[in-house]
Amino acid sequence: MDLALLSAAAGEHGGTPAWAMLAYLISGVLFILALRGLSSPGTSRAGNRYGMIGMTIAMVTTLVTHVPMIPGDAFNSYVGPDFMTMGEIVAAIAIGGGIGWVIAKRIAMTDMPQLVAAFHSLVGLAAVLVGWAAYLNPEAFGIVGADGAIHAVSRVELGLGIAIGAITFSGSVIAFLKLAGKMSGAPILLPARHVINLGTLAGIIALTAWFTQDQSLWVIATITVLSFLIGFLLIIPIGGADMPVVVSMLNSYSGWAAAAMGFTLSNTAMIITGALVGSSGAILSYIMCKAMNRGFLSVIAGGFGAEAAAGGGAAKEQRPWKRGSAEDAAYMLGEAEKVIIIPGYGMAVSQAQHALREMGDLLKARGVEVKYAIHPVAGRMPGHMNVLLAEANVPYDEVFELEDINSEFATADVAFIIGANDVVNPAAKTDKSSPIYGMPVFDVDKAKQVFFIKRSMGGVGYAGVDNDVFYMDQTLMLLADAKKMVEDINKGLAH
Ligand code: TAP
Repeated sequence: MDLALLSAAAGEHGGTPAWAMLAYLISGVLFILALRGLSSPGTSRAGNRYGMIGMTIAMVTTLVTHVPMIPGDAFNSYVGPDFMTMGEIVAAIAIGGGIGWVIAKRIAMTDMPQLVAAFHSLVGLAAVLVGWAAYLNPEAFGIVGADGAIHAVSRVELGLGIAIGAITFSGSVIAFLKLAGKMSGAPILLPARHVINLGTLAGIIALTAWFTQDQSLWVIATITVLSFLIGFLLIIPIGGADMPVVVSMLNSYSGWAAAAMGFTLSNTAMIITGALVGSSGAILSYIMCKAMNRGFLSVIAGGFGAEAAAGGGAAKEQRPWKRGSAEDAAYMLGEAEKVIIIPGYGMAVSQAQHALREMGDLLKARGVEVKYAIHPVAGRMPGHMNVLLAEANVPYDEVFELEDINSEFATADVAFIIGANDVVNPAAKTDKSSPIYGMPVFDVDKAKQVFFIKRSMGGVGYAGVDNDVFYMDQTLMLLADAKKMVEDINKGLAH
């Protein structure tokens, strides 16, 4: 049966056929199921599948309702702008998808955080371009009134969409540069930055209000420029321990940018998806702030409290420390009753998770109790360690979050730190000038014995500060690549 007849029979809503509205609703439900699934490692694969099916339904529906098979196809003409024909769209998807495929194939797991930041910037840029396209060709988007002017409500949508998109774009570019190490991770503090930031934000809001009265080019152009500027200004003062919050916040912004695009394009699925990404990103940012002992507003206002942090890159000290070997570690681990493993970014760099799981198995076979302690910002992206441990089939019931395990270090024989650094640094508790001050950390100093795997005494963690744990009486430094070290320990344990 002809789809046009089907939709005519089913009724229409705001220019979108009823069957398409139903399809968008189904994809919205699937996105919610996806988020639900992603909330636990055990259901995350199913969650991903729901998300993929939902996105396929949404894309096919949008293509079928918006893109003519041939130029001028009558069926599609009533649902808004006919940008291109199906052939052109398929070619564009093939080119974009091909580039994405190649990048996904080549990217190292450790470079994922900056890749995610780079992709967020593209969502922001797309929102700006859609907004500008709608401004320059409003008839095609069906947002013009009888008087030939753009509807007031559409002007607000355009102003907000472009502003959020531009902030997401420039903020994500800075986050990408910081995470990729192409720009210093330390906060860059401009004098009077709060006045500049508040002034710029007030300017954007005032101009968006003005835009409802005056649709001149200079208004929208100034909104765009100021928004690019504020995205840049908001992210440069954020550094060290606050970067994880920025990553999830930009994720949230990219969702709101997509939702704003959805309004401009009158696309329900995009509004639903954008709102889901925006709100779940905001909730994640809030959770991360709580976990990091940071005020949400102070982080998003950019660099509040960073004065102390800026001066905090403490010089490395020449203090005595003890070096251990894989044999020492294997012997002491084998003799222990309880071992708590703290993985960090270095485990991801060396891909030591499989060897680590084997070590856990060998220890459990000897009757040792093994637990894994995960800090909310260990690694370089939310859930980084959980994903790697799940990939290595570490049982979920052996993996604990900071607040659930921190009290247990006092009863542990060994705290086994593998590629973690900032998340075990006691300076976060004691040194007000440290960039990680205030962040909760693992109390590894309470364990009887500490093993600290890293490659050299010269290397520092993300925040770039020295760590007192290296110099504690009960610490043995195991200096090597994490995977190699654990494999050597496993050889010792297997004997
Ligand atoms: P970090 O403090 O970054 O420390 C990583 C440690 O791993 C260093 O001691 C490093 O020392 C060692 N390492 C690196 N490669 C290694 C290898 N191949 N083998 C063995 N060791 C290796 O890690 P963390 O404790 O996981 O802390 C996370 C930090 O990143 C926090 O400051 C957090 O705020 C920040 N951050 C987190 C996120 C998210 S969302 N999780 C996002 C951005 C920033 P060597 O170089 O000497 O080996």
